[in-house]
Amino acid sequence: MRTRPERPHDPAAGALVPTVRRAAPADAPRLAWIRTSTWRATYAEIIGPHALERISRHDGERMRRAVAQQRAGHAVWVIEDHQGTVFGYAWIGPQTDRSVHVARAEHDHIAFLGEVYELYLHPRWHGRGAGTTLLVHAIWDLVDAGLHPVMLWVLGENTAQRFYESTGGVRFATREVEVGGRAMQKVAYGWHEQLPLP
Ligand SMILES: CC(C)(COP(=O)(O)OP(=O)(O)OC[C@H]1O[C@@H](n2cnc3c(N)ncnc32)[C@H](O)[C@@H]1OP(=O)(O)O)[C@@H](O)C(=O)NCCC(=O)NCCS
Repeated sequence: MRTRPERPHDPAAGALVPTVRRAAPADAPRLAWIRTSTWRATYAEIIGPHALERISRHDGERMRRAVAQQRAGHAVWVIEDHQGTVFGYAWIGPQTDRSVHVARAEHDHIAFLGEVYELYLHPRWHGRGAGTTLLVHAIWDLVDAGLHPVMLWVLGENTAQRFYESTGGVRFATREVEVGGRAMQKVAYGWHEQLPLP
């Protein structure tokens, strides 16, 4: 089992550094709003407004359930600014699809035990390092829960693939998926050998 290395103390990091905490039930409406806004900003051109509207309709209920169902190995982590305003979240838990693995040799596979189901930051916060903070936190929480190696899916048309590569994620599989009535490709990224520094 991997153990979490100590993070070096950064005296330059002051109160303005965003903090990560576990989601509470009262956060659910805000998380749904972040999900809806982020999908609009990221996928409007790829999926189209009508399909987006259909997909986002259940965000409230989806995030209410995700937050309520937190238990061992299942978590929703939120990231908030120095005023306590939540601007992003990571929803994580066990990876249960046994067909998702990396072949190490002919009868030897690496099975992925942990998954980042969703990682969304409100568009105003993109490109400021907060996504890296949240993803690294999510990966290490899965590792601490014994759910390592870790993987996630990202749509093939989403440039965020570069983001996952920047934190050491390795592309290892693709699948067909239907999103908003359109056939698309999703891409799997895994962290199995190298983990980002917490
Ligand atoms: C993807 C996301 C979580 C990244 O968070 P972020 O705070 O914007 O990313 P960071 O500032 O930590 O960026 C780290 C690196 O990734 C790169 N990067 C981040 N988002 C990127 C994107 N969408 N496309 C290409 N590169 C990206 C940054 O340029 C940076 O590169 P650098 O280290 O060379 O400077 C965030 O932009 C987001 O929520 N996007 C919309 C939703 C989404 O696509 N979620 C993932 C779905 S699976």
